[in-house]
Amino acid sequence: MKKNILITGGAGFIGSHVVRLFVNKYPDYNIYNLDKLTYAGNLANLSDIEARPNYTFVKADICDLETMKEVIAENNITGIIHLAAESHVDRSIKDPLVFAQANVMGTLSLLQAAKEVWNGDYSDKIFYHISTDEVYGTLDFDGTFFTEDTKYDPHSPYSASKASSDHFVRAYHDTYGLPVIVTNCSNNYGPYQFPEKLIPLFINNIRHQKPLPVYGKGENVRDWLYVVDHARAIDVIFHRGKNGDTYNIGGFNEWKNIDLIKVIIKTVDKLLGNPEGTSESLITYVTDRAGHDLRYAIDSTKLKNELGWEPSLQFEEGIEKTVKWYLENQEWLDNVTSGEYENYYRKMYNQK
Ligand code: NAD
Ligand code: DAU
Repeated sequence: MKKNILITGGAGFIGSHVVRLFVNKYPDYNIYNLDKLTYAGNLANLSDIEARPNYTFVKADICDLETMKEVIAENNITGIIHLAAESHVDRSIKDPLVFAQANVMGTLSLLQAAKEVWNGDYSDKIFYHISTDEVYGTLDFDGTFFTEDTKYDPHSPYSASKASSDHFVRAYHDTYGLPVIVTNCSNNYGPYQFPEKLIPLFINNIRHQKPLPVYGKGENVRDWLYVVDHARAIDVIFHRGKNGDTYNIGGFNEWKNIDLIKVIIKTVDKLLGNPEGTSESLITYVTDRAGHDLRYAIDSTKLKNELGWEPSLQFEEGIEKTVKWYLENQEWLDNVTSGEYENYYRKMYNQK
């Protein structure tokens, strides 16, 4: 069946993997990638599929209600997969208002646009909102997990803005009957992640023999999922998820930061041909992140039992693939860290 799907934030890290998967897997669908191209959005992430006939890029801000309505109406959009957001916790601590604007007001404007354009005709429509496990707060070292029933308890401005957007999505479902799905995923890793996040930042720093800033004692725990497996889960849930439902997505793959960092060091040193342990001296303990959540761990049993999704990749394989990708794509890293790509694509889209 032909579908017109709007994917927001498709030039970012996870969004680019979702766009690639949908464009390649569903030649009959028209995929519209809508992105504002903030510092985190990079069209070079999609250079392999940008010429495909079922792919269109739209440069726009999700906060712009009128444009959102036009895009949904003119392209007869029936499915929205909403990933556009400010996504970095440290930036949210510095600039919380930017996060409220993009994540709360942006999501609200997209919901309102869908509601107005679909105007009660909800057959075959879905608004799929991509959220995070950080809305659940933090866990102790007691073997418990976040489930879909865990109470929201966000601590950072980022997670508070995502929690707020999740509430608006559910409110549009309960109040106006808008068909929605929400998923909450754990930490993603893989190619095309902006090198301000732990894994790409540390790979790049090791390559350049720069210090590796470990927050606090490095004892915080995150649950890591390969980004392509997240995109696969989004595909399954978009097509078979239940209207009004929530699904947790995670890999049952918890790592203490310092242990993960040692794996990254070992892998980079091996692939660069350095003797084992060469880069361990780069580890530098620094002041902890304010409000730093201790442990995240997702229970994704519901998704496995109801829709049959499971991660396809073992962590050892995923991390080696990831390190290799960054080492082989130094030019991509140099471009996104130098701001070159912004100038390039600004010119391409005739912006000042
Ligand atoms: P990212 O920062 O790499 O990409 C975000 C994209 O959104 C960028 O392309 C950016 O240009 C775009 N964007 C930002 N504000 C916009 C606006 N106002 N209008 C239009 N586009 C805008 O983020 P990511 O890591 O790929 O995360 C994508 C989504 O997944 C986010 O909603 C995030 O909360 C969620 N998430 C991320 C992770 C993770 O580990 N990275 C885990 C769970 C959930
Ligand atoms: O859990 C899902 C979330 O994962 C997503 O919603 C966010 O968008 C995504 O950015 C990520 O958030 P984290 O804060 O967990 O990711 P980050 O890569 O920033 O940090 C991972 C861990 O590493 C965290 O405990 C903080 C620590 N850290 C991070 C950086 C950047 C360091 O010790 N040093 C660093 O320099």
